Amino acid sequence: MRVYFDNNATTIVDPKVRDAMIPFFCEYYGNPNSLHQFGSETHPALRVAMDQLYAGINASDEDDIIITSCATESNNWVLKSIYETHIKNGEKNHIITSAVEHPSVIAVCKYLESLGVEVSFLPVNSDGVIEIDALKDAIHDKTALVSIMWANNETGMIFPIKEISDICKEHNVLFHTDGVQAIGKIPVDVQDVGVDFMSFSAHKFHGPKGVGALFVKKGLELIPLLHGGDQMGGKRSGTLNVPGIVGMGEAMEIAVKELTCEGNLVRKLRDKLEDAILKTPDTFSVGDREHRVPNTVLVSVKGVEGESMLWDLNRAGIAASTGSACASEDLESNPVMEAIGAEADLAHTALRFSLSRFSTEEEVDYVILHFKKAVERLRAISSSYAYTPKNHKSGL
Ligand SMILES: Cc1ncc(COP(=O)(O)O)c(C=O)c1O
Repeated sequence: MRVYFDNNATTIVDPKVRDAMIPFFCEYYGNPNSLHQFGSETHPALRVAMDQLYAGINASDEDDIIITSCATESNNWVLKSIYETHIKNGEKNHIITSAVEHPSVIAVCKYLESLGVEVSFLPVNSDGVIEIDALKDAIHDKTALVSIMWANNETGMIFPIKEISDICKEHNVLFHTDGVQAIGKIPVDVQDVGVDFMSFSAHKFHGPKGVGALFVKKGLELIPLLHGGDQMGGKRSGTLNVPGIVGMGEAMEIAVKELTCEGNLVRKLRDKLEDAILKTPDTFSVGDREHRVPNTVLVSVKGVEGESMLWDLNRAGIAASTGSACASEDLESNPVMEAIGAEADLAHTALRFSLSRFSTEEEVDYVILHFKKAVERLRAISSSYAYTPKNHKSGL
């Protein structure tokens, strides 16, 4: 059996999404910017896809959704553009983010720091979420931008995004959120929350890889990311990825439609898995379930390296993760575990399971079985784990 429980890294393309994309490879393959019919016959599908994206996040017609190649690009673009317009050529010099952002935010912030920008990396509590008071304390009159994720990729914890947005408004500070792990898992309404910029990526919600987007609230301007043929209103030139955009639109529409019903099923499966894991002595999960996206659980298995667990599970055909996919080739401890204050030995034991609407109960049962086997095998040979009855409790 093969079980894919690494859906926060990427997801299977929904067959309905694939079917929607196929005509745009060999049938309607024209360049949308060409004047002939090969170009123009792509337009109706592009319009439908853009409508699906606007509807999916409840953007208004006057807002912009600009297609990018991935969320890493969207995150880079916002941060570097605000640097150009508000910091390098303006009066501000401060950006606030959190210590648990995806590397595509953290690394850009560190780069901007090297250019002289003051960056506040807000710490998180033991649930892996920032404290609102810390944000209030950090904001000052030189703050140009707050960039805080909607939901965390490792823990699945949902951030108090509406409160953050309100504080930004009070202080007249722009607010960007990395919405990658929220879309398709919880309702995302950019108008209700009042975000200024939001990044997202199709391959995280059963769309294709290589296509993402940046929501930009009406009236806000970014410097063009790519100069060239003036596609995307001159903001991001480059021939449009027609199959990708069609696929992202379709994936968004399905994700939103399936949200409540499939979300509840995914939650049930995740809870079953988590409950079974926590019955194993000395295992912990991070963050309160009610404030987590329904598909994710980050566990820590005392005395067992996350990588060893990963390889045992992999031998049984099970895919999980010890950190975000981009960072998973180095054997450092999970940075989010470190940020929540886990001791170094626990931070090395992190293991993330992320399910999807394609996950089944049979798969969960199979993972529970092999999880228990792997823990038993690895603890038996672990020099750092000695089981005593008083270890026998779960919960963080
Ligand atoms: C929270 C978050 N932001 C950004 C990204 C980067 O997305 P992409 O692969 O589209 O560049 C990821 C991918 O893991 C993510 O989880």
